Amino acid sequence: MSASARVTAPTPSEIRASKGAEPLVMLTAYTTPMAQMMDDHVDMVLVGDSVGMVLHGLPDTLGVTMEMMCLHGAAVKRGLHKAMMVVDMPFGSYEESPEQAFRNAAALMRDTGAAAVKLEGGVTMAETIRFLTARSIPVMAHVGLTPQAINTLGGYKVQGRGDDRARVMADAKAVAEAGAFSVVLEKVPASLSDEITSALDIPTIGIGASANCDGQVLVVDDMLGLFTAFKPKFVKRYGTLGADGETAIKAYADEVRARSFPGPEHVFADEVPTK
Ligand code: KIV
Repeated sequence: MSASARVTAPTPSEIRASKGAEPLVMLTAYTTPMAQMMDDHVDMVLVGDSVGMVLHGLPDTLGVTMEMMCLHGAAVKRGLHKAMMVVDMPFGSYEESPEQAFRNAAALMRDTGAAAVKLEGGVTMAETIRFLTARSIPVMAHVGLTPQAINTLGGYKVQGRGDDRARVMADAKAVAEAGAFSVVLEKVPASLSDEITSALDIPTIGIGASANCDGQVLVVDDMLGLFTAFKPKFVKRYGTLGADGETAIKAYADEVRARSFPGPEHVFADEVPTK
């Protein structure tokens, strides 16, 4: 069913069952107004830990905390009625043990109203994904480039080229077998993304992957042109909100300095107007 025709949010089981149907549309959001803007048009909204870089000016996602994810998750949920919300588990909140992951995933779902959590990692996270899904926590997995691992991956590099291909395929198969209802493939060569999409019985959501994935996700501030610190190759800019915003702010500053704002229509008379 198309997002605009829907009256309630899809569930993780429905997302899983939609494999092979119309491509799934997903964007990130971090605030209520942004969530409201996309609610009619997307199937899923990700409260990504990219919030740390996009809204808080952090150099990477490693400094993002549970408190930040709970605060932004709750704000996004207030703007959604039709799209399903997934919240990222921040670095350090799930890797230690399945029990630690359960505690923090349950807190994220309780405090934000999210339908599911997303966590990064393949084979090494399979046991945790199995533990969470067996305890009523739907998990979206994330393999390929996993930004929380930049210090061990050596940067934001494409994953799965050459000899590395089998590792990324094994990661994708492991998370699907462990019970993830879908999996994000980030910065994985298109031919490998296609092979993974064919091999798995759960939807693949691509970002820098392939048009043949079962869905696509982008960071909303990237595609709107609001976040302009850098632009990865996989981002297409659908808007120029950053540049437009700067133009508007400069016009405001010029008008304040010229005393042409506020104009007569923006100020109040001594008396209450008669009509
Ligand atoms: O944090 C995020 O925004 C993400 C997407 C890029 C998939 O994980």
